[in-house]
Amino acid sequence: MSNFFFDRAYAARTADETRAFRDAWAATFDTEAAAAGYATPVRCAAALARFSHASTVLDFGCGTGLSGAALKQAGFACIDGADLSPDMLARAADKQIYRSLTQLDSEPHISGGYDAIAAVDIIGSSAAPMAVFDRLLRALNRGGKLVFSLDDRALADPVSISGMNEWLDCGAARLLFVEYGDHLPELQVKANVYVIEKA
Ligand SMILES: C[S@@+](CC[C@H](N)C(=O)[O-])C[C@H]1O[C@@H](n2cnc3c(N)ncnc32)[C@H](O)[C@@H]1O
Repeated sequence: MSNFFFDRAYAARTADETRAFRDAWAATFDTEAAAAGYATPVRCAAALARFSHASTVLDFGCGTGLSGAALKQAGFACIDGADLSPDMLARAADKQIYRSLTQLDSEPHISGGYDAIAAVDIIGSSAAPMAVFDRLLRALNRGGKLVFSLDDRALADPVSISGMNEWLDCGAARLLFVEYGDHLPELQVKANVYVIEKA
């Protein structure tokens, strides 16, 4: 199976180019993700629920809200969403599952105070740079949990792994969970799902 948008999702982009690309994809994202068997939102939500009962979760890079829907299904009642793309956010708003939705600029300030943050299929070569990972961990409360995924392309990029290891190696964060499994099975792409606890 091949797909116009998924085939182009891995190109390097500036934040403005990412926003334009995601805006163009917003109307058809849910249908195409379903056709590709998009499994990572449910996997991430289940992994986070194993380690966190946070009252509020930040769904960073919420897109059209598939990750928020999975978080809700896993039992998280209060979810804030944030994304670069206004058209993706408009689709997320239609789902009526978020307490708040925020459109981010290219160098977003991420409000602190969260005990749980999800970054589902947004970090790495297909979307946000590892600098975003650093910002998310800084925004997390001590003891808070970050669930995120790295797909096969991101896993092949040493920057992704070394960015995570910088936090783990110095004890600033602890790896609670990692599992390799389906991401887009119809496109033969897999992903690691991680849960990290901020020290
Ligand atoms: C593949 S989609 C995943 C969306 C959602 N998490 C899901 O699982 O359905 C990636 C999303 O990340 C957003 N994104 C990419 N780079 C970003 C950044 N630097 N900051 C915030 N969002 C970003 C895109 O606009 C897009 O909506």
